[in-house]
Amino acid sequence: MNLHLTHILDFIETAKHLSEDEKTELIKSIKSADKDLTISEFKLERTEKVKRTTAILLEETIEELEQKRKAIEESNDALQKSLQELKATQSQLIQSEKMASLGELTAGIAHEIQNPLNFVNNFSEVSKELLEEMLEEIHNGDMEEVNAIAQDVIQNLEKINHHGKRADGIVKGMLQHSRTSSGAKELTDINVLVDEYLRLAYHGLRAKDKSFNAALESNFDNSIKHINITPQDIGRVVLNLITNAFYAVNEKKKMHLKDYEPKVYVETKKIKNLVEIRVSDNGNGIPKKILDKIFQPFFTTKPTGQGTGLGLSLSYDIIKSHDGDIKANTIENEGSTFIITLPENKA
Ligand SMILES: Nc1ncnc2c1ncn2[C@@H]1O[C@H](COP(=O)(O)OP(=O)(O)OP(=O)(O)O)[C@@H](O)[C@H]1O
Ligand SMILES: [Mg+2]
Repeated sequence: MNLHLTHILDFIETAKHLSEDEKTELIKSIKSADKDLTISEFKLERTEKVKRTTAILLEETIEELEQKRKAIEESNDALQKSLQELKATQSQLIQSEKMASLGELTAGIAHEIQNPLNFVNNFSEVSKELLEEMLEEIHNGDMEEVNAIAQDVIQNLEKINHHGKRADGIVKGMLQHSRTSSGAKELTDINVLVDEYLRLAYHGLRAKDKSFNAALESNFDNSIKHINITPQDIGRVVLNLITNAFYAVNEKKKMHLKDYEPKVYVETKKIKNLVEIRVSDNGNGIPKKILDKIFQPFFTTKPTGQGTGLGLSLSYDIIKSHDGDIKANTIENEGSTFIITLPENKA
């Protein structure tokens, strides 16, 4: 029993002024108080124990949390690293897509350069013969003839220069295409640009695949004034669309359908203050279930290794950076039309 209660109990038992009944009553109360006290002590001890266990558990939880925080930090770092790697791979892919489209252009460019080269070769040969004749006439003293021949040679040299410059322009355009675009906009004749890339794409494909043949029609709206664009970027968009169109008609041709004549149609049109470029084909069209995916990067239905699936996504970015719009209309089994709209005059 509790020491203080024992004292009180002794005191009660020896107290003379209390009756026996009173003593019994008081002793009963003291014993009951002692019982309550023991119970309270027991409870207190238990609470202490719970407190200690809780503290230990809390410590363990804190440690666990710390470990988890570290793990999250590490995986965050790893994620950050792979994101950077992904970005690097993506820009490599974009560059290789550019190089691939340059590859597509090469044959077309060779074809385009051949023309001015033929002129340069022919006119320089003719001029050499003329100068030989001129020497003879100088020898003969026929100054009138010398004069006439000199005029011809001057004209020839002008032509040589003109065609040399043409070839120069084509090569410069090619270099511009392979370079990362500076994004600088300049006033450009969109009809000339579209026509140029149309021919380059067509001859490029023909050079790669001799059996390739498709009717090619174009219609240019001459009321369109020069518009402010980055020519090599818009050129790439046109090239992508035309290459896709040719690919689509070529695929359909392989199905050997009766009376099928592959056809690609390109047109420009001025509508109010907008310029529209349309590239249409009578290929197989785009199935409904993939239509909303075609502008996504890396989406392609071409066999592995044949397409990066970046053509349309890059085109989309380029057109958006010109405040324009690009969309596709298609009817399954009948063909597709891609429509680009650009503001006519945007400084
Ligand atoms: N004219 C079209 N007719 C039918 N399907 C088309 C046409 N143009 C695009 N597509 C579909 O859209 C997909 C994505 O085109 P995109 O130009 O982005 O990539 P790609 O042509 O497959 O590859 P890459 O352009 O890198 O060679 C194509 O794989 C094709 O399924
Ligand atoms: Mg493409």
